[in-house]
Amino acid sequence: MRLLVTGGAGFIGSNFVHHVVEHTDHHVTVLDKLTYAGNRASLDGLPEDRVAFVQGDIADAAVVDTLVADADAVVHYAAESHNDNSLDDPRPFLDTNIIGTYTLLEAARRHDVRFHHISTDEVYGDLELDDPERFTEKTPYNPSSPYSSTKAGSDLLVRAWVRSFGVRATISNCSNNYGPYQHIEKFIPRQITNVIRGIRPKLYGKGENVRDWIHADDHSSAVLTILEKGEIGQTYLIGADGEQNNKDVVELILELMGQPRDAYDHVADRPGHDLRYAIDSTRLRTELGWQPKYRDFRSGLAATIEWYRDNEAWWAPAKDATEAFYASKGQ
Ligand SMILES: NC(=O)c1ccc[n+]([C@@H]2O[C@H](COP(=O)([O-])OP(=O)(O)OC[C@H]3O[C@@H](n4cnc5c(N)ncnc54)[C@H](O)[C@@H]3O)[C@@H](O)[C@H]2O)c1
Repeated sequence: MRLLVTGGAGFIGSNFVHHVVEHTDHHVTVLDKLTYAGNRASLDGLPEDRVAFVQGDIADAAVVDTLVADADAVVHYAAESHNDNSLDDPRPFLDTNIIGTYTLLEAARRHDVRFHHISTDEVYGDLELDDPERFTEKTPYNPSSPYSSTKAGSDLLVRAWVRSFGVRATISNCSNNYGPYQHIEKFIPRQITNVIRGIRPKLYGKGENVRDWIHADDHSSAVLTILEKGEIGQTYLIGADGEQNNKDVVELILELMGQPRDAYDHVADRPGHDLRYAIDSTRLRTELGWQPKYRDFRSGLAATIEWYRDNEAWWAPAKDATEAFYASKGQ
């Protein structure tokens, strides 16, 4: 297949491109605007006869039309993805997550191209810490932030384009990813690179918030499975039973990096901070036969720490500006 991967220079998109090159014969064209979050170097080392790169905006209808017409399937990762940024300036989230997705859907409709939409479990809002339930494909949407509300809006556009126009689309909503190539503004790489730089890690509030961690490579294998075997019009939740609260994650990072487990600071909590996410991925596992490979968070995190230690040249250029941004907010 010829895959068009939007946002393929970002964290999860680049992990997907590496995964596809390693595990399939598909050809990939990446369409990425290279915002502050995109990094061309995340695709370094991939064979040129398998991966092409186009710098462009998913809201640019002309560019999108040409590339979609040439593809067998679109895998749509591109998004503004950081909750904190969406609280400061929601506008780019509307432009990319809503208008960009609309632009891609219209091209997929014109050219009858298979479409897979990548989304997040944050569209479901949050759960109480002691709630026995987890999110399923039937959980009502209840997003909290400008980021998650624009992702929810994009999911609904995809559903409408399936129903009204017969676009051959599937959707996946995944829990929090960790692994290589994640921007250091995000929780886990920020703390790892802080420790490498001798800066004390920062924990929002008391750190009781729970995230359901999955390795980005497992996310990639799940997306490929859905692309190959998923039923058109369906939504699949992707998760690997990896619930951890933020306090435990910071303390584990410190321990794995040879520091005292309490060598971190508490900072003011994020406004509207979702309490807990938890995914029930039974449908994906039973209907499509998918299984995660990284079941041990401790060893997956240790490997991720090694990657950031070995790849300082990849993240160092963004470190000072990222910390200056957080410092200006007292975080
Ligand atoms: N990070 C997570 O834990 C997580 C979990 C579930 C779902 N997701 C979803 O996965 C997708 C990728 O997330 P990520 O963490 O890799 O994000 P990221 O911010 O690391 O990467 C986003 C990429 O999209 C590109 N991009 C942004 N606007 C664009 C535009 N208008 N046109 C073309 N390219 C553009 C950026 O340059 C960047 O390369 C998003 O749709 C996100 O909602 C993320």
